[in-house]
Amino acid sequence: MQAAPVSDLPISVQFDFATGIFEPWLELQDRRLSNLKEMFYDQERVRNILSEGDPVIYEIRYHPFQTSTSDMSLGVTRIYPGKIGDEYHMTKGHFHERLDQPEIYFCIHGEGYLLMETREGDFRAAPWKPGTITHIPPMWAHRVVNTGKDTLFFVASYHLAAGHDYDAVTRRGFAQVVVEREGKAVLMPNPRR
Ligand SMILES: [Fe+2]
Repeated sequence: MQAAPVSDLPISVQFDFATGIFEPWLELQDRRLSNLKEMFYDQERVRNILSEGDPVIYEIRYHPFQTSTSDMSLGVTRIYPGKIGDEYHMTKGHFHERLDQPEIYFCIHGEGYLLMETREGDFRAAPWKPGTITHIPPMWAHRVVNTGKDTLFFVASYHLAAGHDYDAVTRRGFAQVVVEREGKAVLMPNPRR
């Protein structure tokens, strides 16, 4: 992320509940399959899809609020519906670099799960629907999975100083994956562990 502009004045942005897009945002990141190809368990399917294209799985709009004494960021993520093989579209997932940094996630639209796991292997899957707000404590990796037919979007609020650590999640994944079985979303142990 670029260095955030410093302003000690209040700032408001306007959120559109129909689209999940707020204005103005300062940065937009597309996450394509190539950006998170290690995250899905069916690696053969990943290679097949990438041989024909590189679909956008989700996108994030950011507005960092940097003042002379604080650093709070707003992020809104929109996960497109779909699956890679039988595993639903999801975010990359990360730990915070700083060990004292929590985060608030607020599900606005769609349905799915917020997966969370500690480095010691304590795992939680919070079922998500519009209106679910989850506090993610420090030292819990977090990933959102869209199991619905619509775009899932959620608001995140965290300190810029928290930092993102993707390495552990890239290496190990989460304890469970969310897959479709007979038309339903179910959790199952991660086959790659
Ligand atoms: Fe985070």
